[in-house]
Amino acid sequence: MTNRQTAIPTIVASENGRRGARAAMELLINGGSALDAAELACRVVEDDPAEHTVGYGGIPNALGEVELDASIMDGRTLQAGAVAAVRGYGNPITLARRVMERSPHVLLVGRGAERFAAEMGQSRADQQTEEAMQRWLTRFDERGLSPDAPIPLRELAARLTGPINLHDRNEDAIPGQPMGVKPLDMLGTVNFLVLDSRGALASAVSTSGIGWKYPGRVGDSPLIGAGNYCDNHYGAVACTGMGELAIRAATARSLILYLRQGLSLHDAGRKALADLARLDPGPGQYMNIVALTPRGEHAGFTTVPGKRYLYMTAEMEEPALAERVAE
Ligand code: GLY
Repeated sequence: MTNRQTAIPTIVASENGRRGARAAMELLINGGSALDAAELACRVVEDDPAEHTVGYGGIPNALGEVELDASIMDGRTLQAGAVAAVRGYGNPITLARRVMERSPHVLLVGRGAERFAAEMGQSRADQQTEEAMQRWLTRFDERGLSPDAPIPLRELAARLTGPINLHDRNEDAIPGQPMGVKPLDMLGTVNFLVLDSRGALASAVSTSGIGWKYPGRVGDSPLIGAGNYCDNHYGAVACTGMGELAIRAATARSLILYLRQGLSLHDAGRKALADLARLDPGPGQYMNIVALTPRGEHAGFTTVPGKRYLYMTAEMEEPALAERVAE
C-alpha cells in the first residue's frame, strides 16, 4: 500500500447518512480505505434504532418480519457483494462484504444468506423494534385492515403499500406529483459513495426495502447495476426510492455508462432521469440518485423536486446538504 495522497477524501450520501458520514470521514482522515469507510458508514445507520428504513428497526413486511437487503462494491476491482431478504441477522452490509470477499458469488438471498451469515460467525439478532412493530400495526389501522384479514397476502400487501390519496384529507400536495398524492412514505434506503485519499472509490447501500412489502420482494439496493455501481475509472452511483424503477432502468450502471461515453456528470444524471421518466412512474413513486466521480465531483438527481443529498469532504467539519437536480 502506498501513502501517496491523490484525492481529497469525500463522502456522498442520502440525507439519512449524516451519522454514518461523520464516522466514515474520521476513518478516511486516519488513512482508512474507501471500502472500509463505506461499510462502516452503513453499519452506523443500520444500528440506529431511530432509522426506520434500514437495518435494526426497519419497517417489517406484510407478515411483520424485517427483511434486509444490502450491497457493496469496490471501484478498484469491480468486485461486488450483496444479500437480500435476510431475516434474523443485523448489519447486512457486512454480510454483503463477506459474500464479496469470502465466496465466489455476488448475491446470496434468504435462507442461503442466513446460513452464510451463521458460517461467517455472525450471531443471530432480532431486527424488530417495538416501535417498528407499532408502525407496522398502525398502517393496518390507517388502511382499515387487520393482519388477520381473510384476503390473499398479495392484496393485503398492495393495500398496505399503495399510495394514500390525500384529496379527501386536504393535506399538502407534493411538487412534481399528481395533485393530492403523497410520495410513498415507506421507502427508505441509505447510500454511501466514498472517495479515499488514494483515489479509490467504493459504494454501499442498505435497506429494509418497502415497508409492508410482499415477503421476498427485493428492490434495487442489493442489485449491482440497479441501485449500486462503482468503477474507479468513471464514478460511483447509488439510488434510493422505489427500487422497481431503478431495476427496470438499470439506473446506477446506466449513469456510469453515460459518464463513460464522455457526458458531464450533470448530463449523465439528467439522462438517467430521462430513462426513469420513460417508465411512467405510478402515483407517489419516485427515484433519487447520488453520484461521485474519481475527481471528487458530486451531484444528486431526483424525479421529485425538493429533495437533497448529503456530502462531506475532509476539509469540512460537518456534512452539508445540497439540492438534487430534478429534470
Ligand atoms: N430502494 C429500496 C427499495 O426499493 O427496496
